[in-house]
Amino acid sequence: LRHFLTTEHLPRSLLEDILDTAASFVDVGGRSIKKVPLLRGKTVVNLFFESSTRTRSTFELAAQRLSADVLNLDIAKSATSKGETLLDTLRNLEAMAADMFVVRHQDSGAPFFIANEVTPNVAVINAGDGRHAHPTQAMLDMYTIRHYKGGFEGLKVAIVGDILHSRVARSQVHALNTLGAEEVRLIGPKTLLPVDAEALGATVFTDMAHGLKDVDVVIMLRLQKERMDSALLPSEGEFFRLYGLNNEKLQYAKEDAIVMHPGPINRGVEIASEVADGPRSVILNQVTFGIAVRMAVMSMAISGQDSAPAGGAHGS
Ligand code: CP
Repeated sequence: LRHFLTTEHLPRSLLEDILDTAASFVDVGGRSIKKVPLLRGKTVVNLFFESSTRTRSTFELAAQRLSADVLNLDIAKSATSKGETLLDTLRNLEAMAADMFVVRHQDSGAPFFIANEVTPNVAVINAGDGRHAHPTQAMLDMYTIRHYKGGFEGLKVAIVGDILHSRVARSQVHALNTLGAEEVRLIGPKTLLPVDAEALGATVFTDMAHGLKDVDVVIMLRLQKERMDSALLPSEGEFFRLYGLNNEKLQYAKEDAIVMHPGPINRGVEIASEVADGPRSVILNQVTFGIAVRMAVMSMAISGQDSAPAGGAHGS
């Protein structure tokens, strides 16, 4: 691995390698291990141009548990507000001997642009770009599914809600198909489904009764209002009535189906508290596994970078 920017077009063996490496960081209780020296002497810079609770915090914890030095650049208080360009900011951080940039950006493609601009000894991890990709979220979701279901063979997975604006859904569909899930279903109103949904390798449903029937995993998504034209915002009450997951609708899924959500959750909009806090919810376990999965991606990117020739090719 050189950079980690997307789950699209990556070989199954690499995705499995990430999951297996993450598993090596998890103790028997399912919590990530305290500390290993794999990134000792390395500097990780968190560059979050968009808000985050889970991704930013777990990347910081993951870097610390790998023994890296971590710098969280406060973008709002940085010199970008004085007109400094993104490239000039990057060059200055490289001058501080940064080894890795973890990038979240509101514009699709921004981490790819940065990966093309950094010097060969710097790795870039995509922590979510626009509505395009969120590959480490998808990998922690794959870890969670493998943990609870034992693998992907024969699994039916439903992803529900605002698919159109979701970078998480796109990365999940690619990863699930590569890892061999039997069927990936996208459920939502026509207005929140991408036109290329079937080309992505998913089956499309516009109602919960058919879409959730006999699925093993239900992944709920938030309405991404910040990426919608306010005139097109659906009514939250209507959305919850049709697509909100409550115990009644969960009965369409298999009896042992697990319920996932990348967070942040909006209770009473896409998910009822009775489900979010219920016995089939693994939402907080996803967060815990995120530390180990991000440790895996970061350690693999640094070791790929250390072994890459000068100007080495992108691993992703
Ligand atoms: N799932 C996720 O990306 O959450 P944050 O926006 O809090 O990082």
